[in-house]
Amino acid sequence: MLFPDYRPRRMRQNRTFRRMIRETELLAADMILPLFAVEGNGIREPIESMPGQFHYSVDRMAEIAGQAAHAGIPAVILFGVPDRKDALGTRAYADDGIVQKATRTIKDAHPELAVITDVCLCQYTEHGHCGVVEGDIVDNDATLDLLARTALSHARAGADMVAPSDMMDGRVTEIREALDENGYTHTPIMAYSAKYCSAYYGPFRDAADSAPKFGDRRTYQMDPANAMEAIREVTLDVEEGADVIMVKPALAYLDVICRVREEFDLPVAAYNVSGEYAMIKAADKMGWLDGSRVMMETLTAIKRAGADMILTYFALEAADILNK
Ligand code: PBG
Ligand code: ZN
Repeated sequence: MLFPDYRPRRMRQNRTFRRMIRETELLAADMILPLFAVEGNGIREPIESMPGQFHYSVDRMAEIAGQAAHAGIPAVILFGVPDRKDALGTRAYADDGIVQKATRTIKDAHPELAVITDVCLCQYTEHGHCGVVEGDIVDNDATLDLLARTALSHARAGADMVAPSDMMDGRVTEIREALDENGYTHTPIMAYSAKYCSAYYGPFRDAADSAPKFGDRRTYQMDPANAMEAIREVTLDVEEGADVIMVKPALAYLDVICRVREEFDLPVAAYNVSGEYAMIKAADKMGWLDGSRVMMETLTAIKRAGADMILTYFALEAADILNK
């Protein structure tokens, strides 16, 4: 049926009709809030490159986690900023490591809030790469055991889910085995499956002090030009036992989210990364756009593309709007 018989504007003429035909509705329950844990006491330090985000010491972590829980956000994902680094990233898998301590504290205070832990080495290695470095090469196989130890120590600290973000080949198998052998058969793995080598991670690397000291991450993270390769990467993670598959970043990769959603029947997560957050905050501050509307539009678009879960620094701000 064509104009003038069919008029799409009929169903847009008022708020009620618009609500009735809305295809995608963002919920607080869709979002996961990333948090940065630092050593020390009484710390709630603003992160310059990410306005509105903070570094929290463990003793102040429960308060922000409580805000998330109260707003109906089901989960947080923890990133640790350790006070010392070494070649093998030993503070990543230490029982008294920063993520391990923060996990215990949050689970004590808010047992109903899921704690997901980011599993990687880049914040913990002095060279800033996500794996063990031999010469100038990131050694895939030598890294696997350290990632598995990290995931296991997070599970022991009470993590509800572990999320490897390193992009080493075979890490999901290795982590699944380590968890199962130690009785954590019920701890799911959220795999950063299609993680691109992206300049959108810039603000995060300042926040987490995790920029590589030499070279870049192109030998392990994906080329932004590739989409079929994302399907291959996700296929591998699914076969290795991933429970949730992730595409990262989100906004410049909505096509990848959409394809992954169509090809797989597992829950799909998308990471609305630090640079996506910082761009909106910066333009809002300049008065160049309405940050809060762009935030809601962006998050809705990520869900519309096919994401079941959105990791986003906007989680609290967006949940506040949704809960009004
Ligand atoms: C690294 C890691 C990155 C992010 C989280 N963990 C990217 C990177 O430094 O390569 C980025 C998150 C963000 O930008 O918000 N394991
Ligand atoms: Zn890393």
